[in-house]
Amino acid sequence: MAEYNDNIVHSPIELKGLSKYVSLVIHRGVERAIWAFCELGIADIMAGYQAPITASELSKLNGNNWNAEFLYRLFRVIADADIITELTVNSENSNKYDHPEEKIRFQLTEDGLILTSNHFSKARDMIRLELDPILEKTTACFPSLIKFGYKNGTGFEQAFGCKVFDYFQKAENNKFANIFDNAMATYSSYMASSMVSVIDFTRFHKLVDIAGGLGTLLSSILEKNQSLQGILFDLAHVIENAKMINPNEFQRKQIEPNRYHFVEGDMFKSETIPPADAYILKHILHDWDDEKCIEILKSICDANKTQVKKTITVFIVETVTLSNDKDNLEAHVLDLVMLSETGSKERTLPEYISLLNKSGYEMKQLYRTNSLCSIIEAVKTTQNCD
Ligand SMILES: C[S@@+](CC[C@H](N)C(=O)[O-])C[C@H]1O[C@@H](n2cnc3c(N)ncnc32)[C@H](O)[C@@H]1O
Repeated sequence: MAEYNDNIVHSPIELKGLSKYVSLVIHRGVERAIWAFCELGIADIMAGYQAPITASELSKLNGNNWNAEFLYRLFRVIADADIITELTVNSENSNKYDHPEEKIRFQLTEDGLILTSNHFSKARDMIRLELDPILEKTTACFPSLIKFGYKNGTGFEQAFGCKVFDYFQKAENNKFANIFDNAMATYSSYMASSMVSVIDFTRFHKLVDIAGGLGTLLSSILEKNQSLQGILFDLAHVIENAKMINPNEFQRKQIEPNRYHFVEGDMFKSETIPPADAYILKHILHDWDDEKCIEILKSICDANKTQVKKTITVFIVETVTLSNDKDNLEAHVLDLVMLSETGSKERTLPEYISLLNKSGYEMKQLYRTNSLCSIIEAVKTTQNCD
């Protein structure tokens, strides 16, 4: 590991000694600035202005009367993070440090454009969700969770008095629920292409994405596999949201309307799950304890119970912790998030195999992808679901 004696801010985890901790705190400041930038919708305003803009000009747009000097100070950090770029001041006599909020013009970089609301990645909402002070209340419970376990509930329950998915179903939390759905879409678009390229879906006729959010992954799979039918299945409020987006993920990818359907339901109630020959569970099992995971897997089987012998395939897409991996940082971090938010965990491959076996499924294959996720393919004949 290199020694860093300079003043450059490196990624904290690459560093050794005191530099690691100083850098960590500095990055925290950058993180907060990016969150504020997203929360205020500044990328949208800059993109709409269509010319380099000063903090002073921007602070007065859209009927606002923001503090221009403070905004300029935010801009400096955002420019350090290469999300906006500062244009040089032209006038020879101009001292750029004298009221810089009125003189220095900024414009979005390519990374900045990703933070506009209509960018397909929905990255703005991923930042708004993951860095929101609301969610930080749950991770603030780490010390108490470690001392007392779940005696006082999960971190989320301690902070909000209910379970995560119950919180999102309440009408008063609708706005935050939409942000959550969009953030999930960001992760899906981040890994969709590697999943689509690694799995042969031409073997299947109908694929259901169980708790599939806004359909980002399913629509990518249908785009690549022209003879496949797809069903997006999720709770009512998510399906409503998915339908309302214009264009929705399927329309954006020009999937013929007769190839996809939206179905609202509850994955713990087999009668609401559509029968099919293949299912995806992406970032679902990591939300639940073992008992609930087995219920979900059995529910899928029950939805296909017929007199005729039929085989169903399930694809579990998760950040599987692999013992032969040197770098499991993402899996470990996500695991802590699950610990505090949903009271669940990221699992190792043997843990997933055990879950599958307890639910009567047989693991067929593990696919590694170049994204954060691995994919486990498992099968089950549906005559005997118990
Ligand atoms: C972590 S998100 C994953 C979404 C999507 N699969 C993805 O990876 O982008 C979990 C999803 O589970 C859904 N969900 C939670 N409880 C559910 C239930 N009982 N039935 C159906 N969906 C449920 C949520 O609405 C949410 O869309």
